Amino acid sequence: MVEIPEGLRERYEKLLGLEVEAFLDALLRPLKPSLRLNTLKGDPEEIRAGLEERGLELTPVPWCPWGYWIENLDEEEALGNYLEHFLGEFYVQEASSMVPVEVADVKPGMRILDIAAAPGSKTTHAAQRMENTGAVVANDVSVHRIKALTYNLDRLGVVNCLVTTMDGRRFGRLLPGFFQVVLVDAPCSAEGTVRKSFRAWHNWRHGSYRRLAETQKALLISAFKATEPGGVVVYSTCTFAPEENEGVLTHLLDNYPCHLEEISLPGLNGAPGLSSWEGEVYNPQVERAIRIYPHRNEVGGFFVARIRKEE
Ligand SMILES: C[S@@+](CC[C@H](N)C(=O)[O-])C[C@H]1O[C@@H](n2cnc3c(N)ncnc32)[C@H](O)[C@@H]1O
Repeated sequence: MVEIPEGLRERYEKLLGLEVEAFLDALLRPLKPSLRLNTLKGDPEEIRAGLEERGLELTPVPWCPWGYWIENLDEEEALGNYLEHFLGEFYVQEASSMVPVEVADVKPGMRILDIAAAPGSKTTHAAQRMENTGAVVANDVSVHRIKALTYNLDRLGVVNCLVTTMDGRRFGRLLPGFFQVVLVDAPCSAEGTVRKSFRAWHNWRHGSYRRLAETQKALLISAFKATEPGGVVVYSTCTFAPEENEGVLTHLLDNYPCHLEEISLPGLNGAPGLSSWEGEVYNPQVERAIRIYPHRNEVGGFFVARIRKEE
């Protein structure tokens, strides 16, 4: 049995109050696998029917029209062995990870940037929303992870995407005001992923929050600068840490001309962003971001904010 690090348990008690036991119970339950049908490779109804004929029991993820949970599969890995997976007819994706692109309001023909893109869940989802038109710049600093990204783009039949390998902090200076939508799916302490792997608990150090928050702030500011006036930045993490979520957003909101927009997706029970944490008072707008908790939605943890740059 894996033990939650002591300091982390105390933080969750502060964060969730009376809900903490339900939250911890949910974190210790294995995650139900989910996938997104790929409309770039076929009619989603036909792909779904084909998977059901092969014995998969699928139930819809209400906030993504192509998202499904698989009710009768224990091993997510097994999905990678399906011919339909090899053909790119679906992408294995955690249901909460489908939220950022669904709130980004990405449309065909747009110019968008995915500043930390590998291995490509959000990029391939955005390309699907854009019907393979317009242009997606998919960037990641890690050469190793870029290989998985290019493999996934190829497998899913994405043709509107340009891949770059550089530090995302450079985009704001290189292409100021260029993109209509920028996705910042930031590197983070990944506390929301423990239902898939306990690595985040094994690696947990309180001191990591500050270092991660500095990178996240720099990436978010770069993304903001690369966005055209009136455009949208979607900031997301898969962690519960307020320092990496509301703290990072507050830094942007207090220093740059932008505001947060309300997020509402069908069937998604998101909790509002926190107004304060450990003596730090956050910009009141962060309450418009959503915290996705595993005990409220039977998913992995996520944090998502939709930022509008002023005209
Ligand atoms: C949460 S993962 C992204 C997941 C991806 N968006 C997806 O949905 O498949 C964070 C990514 O940030 C990348 N990263 C870390 N620091 C970066 C930087 N300074 N510039 C660009 N990418 C960075 C990591 O290599 C990692 O792939």
